[in-house]
Parts: sequence; structure tokens; C-alpha cells
Amino acid sequence: MKEVPDEIKKEMEKLVREINYHNYRYYVLDSPVISDEEYDQMLRRLKELEGKWGYILPDSPTQRVGAAPSEKFEKVEHKEPMLSLDNAFSIEELRDFDIRVKRLLGTKEDIEYTVEPKYDGLAVELSYKEGLLYKASTRGDGYVGEDITANIKTIRAIPLRIEGVEIVPEEIDIRGEVYMNIDEFERINKERIEKGEPVFANPRNAASGSVRQLDPSVTASRKLYMACYGIGYVKGITFKSQYDFIQWIKKARFPIPVYVKLVKGIEEVIKVVKELEELRKSYPFETDGAVIKVNNFDLQRKLGAKTREPRWAIAYKYPAHQGITKLLDVIASVGRTGIITPVAMLEPVKIGGVTVSKSTLHNWEEVERKDIRVGDYVIVERAGEVIPHILGVVVDRRRGDEKKVTPPEHCPVCGSKTVKEPGEVALKCINFNCPAQVEERIKHFASRRAMNIEGLGDKTVELFHEKGLIKNFIDLYKLRQKDILGLPGFAELSSKKLIEAIEKSKKTTLARFLYALGISQVGEYASKLLAKHFKSLEELYHIEAERLVQIPQIGEKTAKAIEQFFNNEENLRAIEELKSLGLKVENPDYEGERKPSPLNGLTFVITGTLPLPREEVKEMIEKYGGKVASSVSQKTDYLVVGEQPGSKLQKARALGVKTISYEELLRLME
Ligand code: IVH
Repeated sequence: MKEVPDEIKKEMEKLVREINYHNYRYYVLDSPVISDEEYDQMLRRLKELEGKWGYILPDSPTQRVGAAPSEKFEKVEHKEPMLSLDNAFSIEELRDFDIRVKRLLGTKEDIEYTVEPKYDGLAVELSYKEGLLYKASTRGDGYVGEDITANIKTIRAIPLRIEGVEIVPEEIDIRGEVYMNIDEFERINKERIEKGEPVFANPRNAASGSVRQLDPSVTASRKLYMACYGIGYVKGITFKSQYDFIQWIKKARFPIPVYVKLVKGIEEVIKVVKELEELRKSYPFETDGAVIKVNNFDLQRKLGAKTREPRWAIAYKYPAHQGITKLLDVIASVGRTGIITPVAMLEPVKIGGVTVSKSTLHNWEEVERKDIRVGDYVIVERAGEVIPHILGVVVDRRRGDEKKVTPPEHCPVCGSKTVKEPGEVALKCINFNCPAQVEERIKHFASRRAMNIEGLGDKTVELFHEKGLIKNFIDLYKLRQKDILGLPGFAELSSKKLIEAIEKSKKTTLARFLYALGISQVGEYASKLLAKHFKSLEELYHIEAERLVQIPQIGEKTAKAIEQFFNNEENLRAIEELKSLGLKVENPDYEGERKPSPLNGLTFVITGTLPLPREEVKEMIEKYGGKVASSVSQKTDYLVVGEQPGSKLQKARALGVKTISYEELLRLME
């Protein structure tokens, strides 16, 4: 490896420290002190130095993304078992808990407790050695979990290095809950529905599914957070109490629960628990209770644990947001991409203060799997602000006259035959001119995250469509004030405003426009990716799927859908027409000219120990366009030979495969 000059090392260390600090300002404190541009500039400089010198600091922020997908999760043994919690379902049970604690401690004095929200996500342990994050694992069975280090590193709120405190312990395991906000959960599900993929039942499943992912780039594409609340094995520092510990990790830049209160006596606990029951409604994530912990660590040790739960803590569970009601009908609803989803029409029922009369059933297979029949009594759940969903049927209440639900053979709107592609769950209407789709497409085009046409809501689109003013989204740009003046809700001022809003939307970004087009498989995330890789809209005209799959995060299905869209002359003409009507697409997301790929088409195999971890070398090769295989064959172009090579070297020699050193590999990449 090239010798890295001291001043370069220093610059890199400084960059890493600063970027990590600004990450913390942004993702934990939610109060950035520099602009995105300044941040990007530092990150770019760091990447440049790392690329040039082949030297990467262990806590470099560039290591948050980019690890290659793995085939399975390795097992990790927790040095201290990760326990679960006993539940209290009533205030009475909370008081019983306090009585038990006092009895076991042989005291009549009020106990000090901490109260925190109970996050509904998945428990994760972060292991630090000499301040560096070296392992992250799931809870598993409490004793052995799974190694999810690469995925966890993509969560920006999690420190890669313990900083900001005087004592950095030799070793410390910090535990907490990884969770997802409700709006992110909804965004992902919406994208999954568009792609005809099964949806996540709740934010917890979505968080868990995102973390227990073999491909870290998928984890990276989802917004996850963590709240740290507990300690496992520790060496080199001692804490007096839960509250002290929380203050310390806060200082050490860990994200802590939004609310941690120290109180004395169970009556105070009850007050806070009730306060939290109100507060939780304003949180952007789901909590399913409050966790009450004996504050003092000595007392915790005295109380000890049962097999699975400690005696010093309890979870107070808030009543679940569920209800039982009658399923009146299942109707078929056609979306913008032609996907036909079943919607449950319910006898109105109050759940958690909100009246629910409709619920999504996601797809027809789910209806069949849950054997949901019209006339059934069903269990409906409304978690947080999330769209309600049906958990299942109360089979005991069946009377025998309930009707099975069959997927529609014809589109309920245009009447054309429905189709189901082999291997897909989604049932579709493939008539591009189906009025339902047309309307939905226009609504999508105008929506806030797409072209953001203010004042053009769903109802207005329906009205204009019904009046024959718009048959597609191009027509929007042809609307004049006199066309809409006088329609319900459109007086002089409001019609003028809408026309202005339409005019304003003509100047947009490539990412928004691509999203607005409503190409199947292409949600906001994929649109942004495309914008990063393609300078202009025109570069996508007649694009080939092969080129698209070179973008690591773009899969074959998405690539095909994009190819199809941009090779359809009808579509290209439509875009050109939009342009002639004044559409101006800018692309601030473009990340510059792509690097040349000197290793394009070459296959490498690695043997022996290299100066960098093998995963990183693999990543580097892939970044420059090469492939890495696990065994030597005729197809291998180069065997990269490190120290103490294995049997692959003999095999390469036998097959006449070229062998190169690590330094030679670096030269190939230049
Ligand atoms: S303390 C031994 N604190 O709830 C103490 N747990 O049902 C164990 N959880 O496995 C955990 N928020 O995944 C603690 N503020 C909080 C929590 C919390 C959520 C989860 C955790 C635990 C589960 C038990």
C-alpha cells in the first residue's frame, strides 16, 4: 500500500471527526449548523482522499453505506443476556409492581424510578471497543443474536465512535430500539403497493424487515432511527443509576428516548405514565407503552432477574387500538398504475377516538389467506396514525351465510379484463386509458411530492376530468383561466391562483418529474437515484435496462420498467409536448460525471490476506466496474494474491489464470 503522508492522515482524521459531528447535529439533535453543500463538500473531499490513498479510517462516515450483501447473518453471543420485560396492563398492576419491589428490597421508603416511552421497534445491541463501534446485533433469543453490523452502520444517528465524554470505556455494550417513523413506514408501503410487493403490517415489522436485510443498501434506503436506553457488558467505567447512564450516553452523542423522567414513588410514576399517554400521540413514531425502571443500579442488582425478565423494570402497556366490526362489503379500487386492490367497507366503529369505516386489504391473496368473507366480524387495528388494517376474522361469530370474496375478472371502472402476471401478487387493469387510472395518474402528477401544483387536489382533478377539461396530465398545461372560471369553487381569484400554480410547477427538478411520470416501479427513491446518475431527462430517452442495472440500487424489474417507459415513442412525445408547453427540468441532484470503469467486464478472485479487509477490496473492485467471484474458474481474469495465499493460487496456475498483487490491482484501477 502507498505510504500515507502524515498531513493527509491528519486531514482525513479531521474530516472524519467533523463529518461525524455534523451527522450528530443533523440526525440526533435535529439542529444542523452547516449547510448541506458544506457537508457534501467535506464528504466528497474525504472520499477523494480515501480513494487516492486506499486508506480508510475505521470510523469513516463513508463506511456507513457500501458493504456488499451477505448470504446469511453470523451469530453473535451477547456478553450479558438481553432480557425482555414484564407487562402491566392496568394502574393496579403498576402499584403491585411497586409493592413487590419494596418487599424484595425490605423497605417502606419511596423508590426512585425512571419512566421512558416504550418504543415499538426491535431491540439492538451496539458493541464498542476503545470507543469504536465494532459490532451490532439483534436480540435473538436473548443470548445469541444475529450480526447486523453493516446494516446498523447505515443508520446515521448511531455513533461510529464514542466522542464528547472524558472517559471512553475499554468496552461497552449499549442497547436500544431501532424504529421507523410512521410517515416513512407509509412511504415504503406505498412504494411496495406500486410495485405489487407485500406490504409491512406496521412500522415495527418494517423496521425489523429493514434491519434484518442481507443487502445493506436496502437498509440504507430506509429512514431508521434508534433510541438507546440500556447497558449490557461494560468494562472501564461505572454508572450509579439509569438516569446517570442516560445522561452519559446523551453526552457521548447517542440518541436517547425523547422523554426520560426521574421520579420518586409510584404515584409520581402513574402521573408521568398518564402524561406520556397523551404525549405519545404527538410523536412521529409508535410507542406501545411506558417503561418503568428502578433507577439505582445497586438496587437493580439486588432485585435481580427471573429467567426472562428483570424484577426491577416493567412495561406499562397502553390499550391497543383495536376494535371488532362487521365487514359490509369488499370493493375493488383501481390505482394509478392499474393495480386493483380490495378495500373493506366496514360498519363504522370507534377505535381510539376515531371512527373507522374503511380499511385496506392490501391484495387479493391476503383476503384469501385470511379467509375474509363479506358478513364476517373482523378485528380492525388502527396503530397510531396509520391506515387501519384487518388483523383477522372472528370465526366464532360466523353464521354460515357469509360470502366468499373473489377477485374481479373485469376492471370495475373500464370493464376490461384484469390480468395477473405470473409471480406477481398484484391484480391489474392494463388499459392505459382506463378513466380510473387517468384520474389517478393526474392526481399523482399534481401531488405535493411530485409536481407540487398547489390547489390542484384530488377533488379538483376529478371535477376537471369529469368536465372533459383534462384527459391526461399534458392537458393541465393547456388549461386557461377561462376554461375553469365559473366551475364550482372557481371564482376569479381562485381560478387565477390555480393557473399561476400550474405555471409555477413547470419549473421543476428531474427527480420530481420522474416521480411525477408515475413509471411503474419508480417511486421517490428510484427517481432520486436516476437523477443522481443522469444529467438530464434526455439522457434517459431510449435507455437500455443493461445500463440501468449498473446503478447498484436498481434491480432488474425496475430497470425493465424504466426501459419500457423511455422506449415508448408515445411517452417520449408526451414529454416533448410538456417541454413545448413550458416544462423546464433542472437537475441539482446530479452527482457529476461518472468515474470511468477501468475494471469493466473483468472478474477477480481474491486469495490470502490483503492490506484491507476483503469486503472492502471487493467493494472497491465493484466500484470500478469489476466483479468478484468466490472461486477460480476459466472465467476468472485475475487472481489477486495476498499474504499466505490458499489453494486458489495452485488452481489459478493450473488453469493459466493471471495472478496479480494488491499493488498491481490498485494500478489497474488508476
Ligand atoms: S428496557 C431489561 N426500555 O421492549 C430491560 N426496553 O418488551 C429491557 N423497549 O426487549 C429493556 N423501549 O426491545 C427498555 N425504553 C425502553 C424500551 C424497551 C422499547 C423494548 C425492548 C424490550 C422490549 C420488551
